[in-house]
Amino acid sequence: MAEERQIEGKTLLVTGGAGFIGSNFIHYMLKRYPGCRIINLDKLTYAGNLDNLKDIEDSPRYEFIHGNIRDKSLVQEVFKRVQGVVHLAAETHVDRSIQDAGEFVLTDVYGSFVLFEALRNSKVEFFLHVSTDEVYGSRDEGFFKEDAPLCPSSPYAASKAGADRLAYSYFVTYGMPIIIIRPSNNFGPFQYPEKFIPLFVTNALEGKNLPLYGKGTNVRDWLYVEDNCRAIDIVLRKGKKGESYNIGANNEVQNRTVAERIVDLLEKPRSLIKFVTDRLGHDKRYALDCGKIRSLGWKPEKNFDEALALTVRWYQGNMDWWRKIKEKSESFKSFYEQYYRKRK
Ligand code: NAD
Ligand code: TYD
Repeated sequence: MAEERQIEGKTLLVTGGAGFIGSNFIHYMLKRYPGCRIINLDKLTYAGNLDNLKDIEDSPRYEFIHGNIRDKSLVQEVFKRVQGVVHLAAETHVDRSIQDAGEFVLTDVYGSFVLFEALRNSKVEFFLHVSTDEVYGSRDEGFFKEDAPLCPSSPYAASKAGADRLAYSYFVTYGMPIIIIRPSNNFGPFQYPEKFIPLFVTNALEGKNLPLYGKGTNVRDWLYVEDNCRAIDIVLRKGKKGESYNIGANNEVQNRTVAERIVDLLEKPRSLIKFVTDRLGHDKRYALDCGKIRSLGWKPEKNFDEALALTVRWYQGNMDWWRKIKEKSESFKSFYEQYYRKRK
């Protein structure tokens, strides 16, 4: 096996570091590598939240830059100061992409292009592109390996698939040091409460209904965010340039089961769960073969029940964090008013 890449002593650019996975990852890396420095470039869209990083904002090893990954000159300047990049910035919510795909194309595809171009004109040693399991599309049985054809079905997934293959093209065409990961559905602390698990946990805590799409039989492979951060770290050190790595925990659960576990954990009535009109083009099931990342020495540390209980406890203990979003964010309120008014 090739020599491991060194992270200690390096400066990493994390794009989208004020979001859910980004803020968890920054915490993880600063703790794991006492000599690692992080620059966080984030536009602070509705999903970006500096509250997620309050405890480290004064660290001499951390710097926040408020900016857009689509800004070529800014990106070029930042690339001069770092040895590695972890690219997470994106528009990420499938339901919003169904309402309006424009920002998804502009940030997820064009924004990624700006980063890949800057990479060509830089001395950056490695670039980890964060794609998603949704690029494969849905399948009723079996598992996707990394060489399966991409068949995305939502505008979000299609934008991510565009960026995923553009990343690969910069490896093949220009020899750029890009590695791609395709994680499954993450959950854990600091996830914006429009996504399934935090929406259901916080709605249940507020005594509100839990809107389960369709029959609630869709299946996702749930991955605890800390396990994903450990996987990113391993791929940074041991991943091979030009390769893609699936990251999943083999925790396939139907949505209705997840909803029931949440209300049970919170000792709320199951009658809070309401079946509502299905999402357009709703992917039935995502399922990954993760043999490749496991061969690098990674495996998830938390099982689903344990990680869900930890997550529920985190939202119970951090009411101010999510209440500020649900009560004060215009983006949250207007999206939900528009989106849920139509769902019965
Ligand atoms: P998120 O929506 O919580 O955070 C996205 C972050 O990107 C926010 O801080 C936002 O302000 C920032 N951002 C958006 N547009 C930007 C721009 N133009 N310039 C700079 N910053 C910008 O997302 P997340 O759940 O943390 O996901 C992070 C990445 O992981 C995304 O690329 C997503 O596609 C991928 N991913 C997520 C999951 C998941 O379950 N959450 C699973 C697989 C892959
Ligand atoms: P989501 O968190 O949006 O992730 P993704 O669609 O990217 O997998 O949704 C996870 C699953 O939960 C998906 O099958 C859709 C479903 N879902 C609901 O049933 N109700 C909801 O209110 C939301 C947001 C999602």
